Amino acid sequence: MQDVFDLVIFGGGGDLSRRKLLPALYSGFVAGRVSKDSRIYLTSRKGLDGSTEPWLKDVFKETPPACEMDAKSLKEFAGMVRVIELGLVDGGADWEALKDALKTDDETRPLVHFLAIPPSLFTSTCELLGAYGLNGPRARVVLEKPLGHDLESARAINEDVGRFFPENQTFRIDHYLGKEAVQNLLALRFSNILFEELWSGRTIDHIQITIAENQGVQGRKGFYEGTGAMRDMVQNHLLQLLCLVAMEPPARLEADSIREEKLKVLKSLKKLEGADIDRNVVRGQYQSGAMFGEAVPGYAEDVELESPSNTETFVALKAHIENWRWAGVPFYLRTGKRLPDRFAEIVIQFKQIPHSPHPGWGTNISPNRFIIRMQPEDHLALRMMVKNHSSADEKLKEVEMNLDVTGDDHLRLGPYLRLILDAVRGDQSLFVHRDEVEHAWRWVDRIIGHWEASAEPPESYQAGTWGPYEAHDLMTRDRREWFHETSGKRSGK
Ligand code: BG6
Repeated sequence: MQDVFDLVIFGGGGDLSRRKLLPALYSGFVAGRVSKDSRIYLTSRKGLDGSTEPWLKDVFKETPPACEMDAKSLKEFAGMVRVIELGLVDGGADWEALKDALKTDDETRPLVHFLAIPPSLFTSTCELLGAYGLNGPRARVVLEKPLGHDLESARAINEDVGRFFPENQTFRIDHYLGKEAVQNLLALRFSNILFEELWSGRTIDHIQITIAENQGVQGRKGFYEGTGAMRDMVQNHLLQLLCLVAMEPPARLEADSIREEKLKVLKSLKKLEGADIDRNVVRGQYQSGAMFGEAVPGYAEDVELESPSNTETFVALKAHIENWRWAGVPFYLRTGKRLPDRFAEIVIQFKQIPHSPHPGWGTNISPNRFIIRMQPEDHLALRMMVKNHSSADEKLKEVEMNLDVTGDDHLRLGPYLRLILDAVRGDQSLFVHRDEVEHAWRWVDRIIGHWEASAEPPESYQAGTWGPYEAHDLMTRDRREWFHETSGKRSGK
C-alpha cells in the first residue's frame, strides 16, 4: 500500500532528521510505501543555499539508507522534499508560506507534524501550528522523546500540546516500539497458547531485559550531560519493553486496549524509595578503556567536562510488579554505553525443576530459558536439557533451539518509517499514551531524586566491560547471573 501524505519535519536539518528520518523516508519511497505525491517539508533556522538534491546526497553519504541508492529515485525523492526557513518562536511571513505550501483541497489527506526538536520548543511550535490553523482534523503531531526531563515538565508539555492537539492526534514516539522484533513479542505472546500458561510467577523465576550499546556518547554531549541513562533509556525504552513482556492479554490488539494494559503494568510497579534504591539500582559511568582492541576515552573526556559529573551512562536495576501474575518475580533491567557488545535481549528464565527424578542426573540441570533477541538480529532461542550421549559422567546436557525470525530484509520497514506511516494512518497502537509517559516518569523520578539528594557519584566502569561490579553483585546477591555471564556467549552465536 502506498501512502500519500504531507509531512513537516520541524528540526529537519537536525541530527534525528538526517540520521534516521530522511534515510527511512527514502527507503520507504524506493520500496513503494511512500507515494511520490507525498510532500515533505523540512523546517530549519537557515534555508538551503543550493537545491535539495545535492544536500540530500550529502545527508545520505553520512547515513546511507537501508536500500540501494540510484540517481533516478534520488532525483524523484528530492523533488518531494523542500527545505523551508522557519522560526519556531514567533509567527510571520515564513509561517504564512508554510500554511500556503500545505494548502490542499483534500481534507482527508494526512498532515503529520514531526517535532524533531528539543522539548523546550514543543509548546511554542504547537501554539504556532494552532495560530496558523495547521492543527485541524487532518493533522497529527509526532513528539520525539525525551518528553520532558521529569514528571512535572512532561505534564507541562502534555498540557501545552493538548491545548492544540487532542490525544487521538498526538503520537508520542518510542522508536523501540517500531522495531519489528518488539512487535513480534506481541505476536509471540498473544498468538501462541504455548506461552500463556507458562507466563507467570508460577513457572518463571525472573526476567532480564538488556539494551547494551558499545557506542559512547560522542556527538551528543549537549544532550547527554545532565540527562543520563535513566532518562534516556530506562524511562522509555526499557520500561516499554517491560510493559510488553508483563502486560495482560489485551481484549483486542488495538491502540486503546494495548495502552490500557501497559499502563496497568506501570501502575503496578513497586515504588522504590530510600535504601531500597541503593540496594536495587546501580548506576555507573564509563572511564577510559579499550573497545575492539583500541583505546577509547572515558565519559568525562567524551563530553569535554571541566568538572566531574554525576551523569550515569549505565543503569542496572531490579524491579517488581505488584500483581497476581508477577508477584515475587524480579525483573532485572540493564542498559549502558561502552559495553562490550551491542544488543537488545529479553531473557525469560524459568524455575528449576522441583525434584530431580533420577539420582544419576546429578545437579547440572540448568533452568529453561527463553531468549528473545531484538537487536542486532531477530532471534528466538529456547534452552533446555536433553540426554547427553557423549559423556558417561554427565548424563544431561543443555541445548539451544534456535529460530531466526529476521525474515525478508526488504519487507522490513525500519522503526521510524513504520511509525511515521502508522501516524499517517492514525494508528496509535505503537505510540505511547500520555498517562504511560507520566507514570514512567513518576517511577524514575523517585530514583533520580534520591541520587540527586545523596550527591554520591556513580560507580565507575572501564569502557569495554559489563558495567560496574555492583551490577554483577545485584544478581549474585540473589543467587542469579546475567545471562551473558551464565553462557559465556549469547544465544545463537
Ligand atoms: C535513543 C537514545 O533513544 O536510543 C540513544 O537517545 C540510544 O542514547 C538509542 O543510543 C538506542 O537506539 P537503538 O535503536 O540503536 O538501540
